[in-house]
Amino acid sequence: MQYKVKKAVFPVAGQGTRFLPATKAVPKEIMTLVDRPLIQYAIDEARAAGIEEFIFVTSRGKGALEDYFDHAPELEASLQAKGKTALLETLRSTYMDSGAIAYVRQHQALGLGHAVWCARHLIGDEPFAVLLPDDVIAADKPCLQQMVEAYAETGGNMVAAMEVPQEKASSYGVLDVPTAISSVMPVRGMVEKPAPGTEPSNLAVIGRYILSPQVLTHLDGQKRGAGGEIQLTDAIAQEITRANNVHGYRFEGQRYDCGSKAGFLQATLAFGLARDDLRDELEEFLFDMVAMRQAAQ
Ligand code: UTP
Repeated sequence: MQYKVKKAVFPVAGQGTRFLPATKAVPKEIMTLVDRPLIQYAIDEARAAGIEEFIFVTSRGKGALEDYFDHAPELEASLQAKGKTALLETLRSTYMDSGAIAYVRQHQALGLGHAVWCARHLIGDEPFAVLLPDDVIAADKPCLQQMVEAYAETGGNMVAAMEVPQEKASSYGVLDVPTAISSVMPVRGMVEKPAPGTEPSNLAVIGRYILSPQVLTHLDGQKRGAGGEIQLTDAIAQEITRANNVHGYRFEGQRYDCGSKAGFLQATLAFGLARDDLRDELEEFLFDMVAMRQAAQ
């Protein structure tokens, strides 16, 4: 059994409608938290976990994403000529090795399960990670690295999970797990966007997965699930029925839902406040803003 995870899939073919009109021209994954696009955070996390092959599932209008990882010889030469070495380093940290990135198209946004299935020929017959760049996770040890270490013991399939308030559970895939909660939990069932009141627990799946290639075979049937979309959750749930080898992993760290406006703003503030070069100015501004709002009330 091979437990080493070398490939990661980044599904970035969604329409990003919650960020219209910006996403009419700018892919959501290129939008920046402070000064780095969302996708860079996901790539860095994957690299830290030992991923060597990066598979992007893209769609029309995502050209900026491909350009972002390309080399920029003119810009590099100009920074070099001006002696801007720190900026040169920043630029070079975005470069990827030749052949390390592959792009595959999802021609229609039929759902996350369908997006991952589009990468099946590139994934082949080995375990693979899936990272949704919308979910940005601040952690001492990057989330996927935590999972890869746990997965080395369990094999099978693993999904990242976190507790959410009950009223929010219907927006997520939710796990059915035994009541004794530890960091690694066997999963008895999974349901995508359960109707309020029917959720099996308050443990929601967020955008980090390590999956076996068998999950892809469950997507071959192209069955639609919640919201009329082909759901990854449903394919993983089928793997529980078939082989009972799915684990939930409660990661250490703070997750920001950067697919939503509120989550994106919160992440921007948190990452800004974590930066030595921005903290003081930002903190002062926030205190002033709060004081002004309170005075006005
Ligand atoms: P979301 O549910 O956030 O959808 O997808 P979205 O299109 O990106 O954004 P909204 O809801 O319209 O604002 C979660 C992840 O799955 C990918 C998205 O790109 C995102 O990374 N995805 C979703 C696909 O690649 N293809 C799909 O058909 C659906």
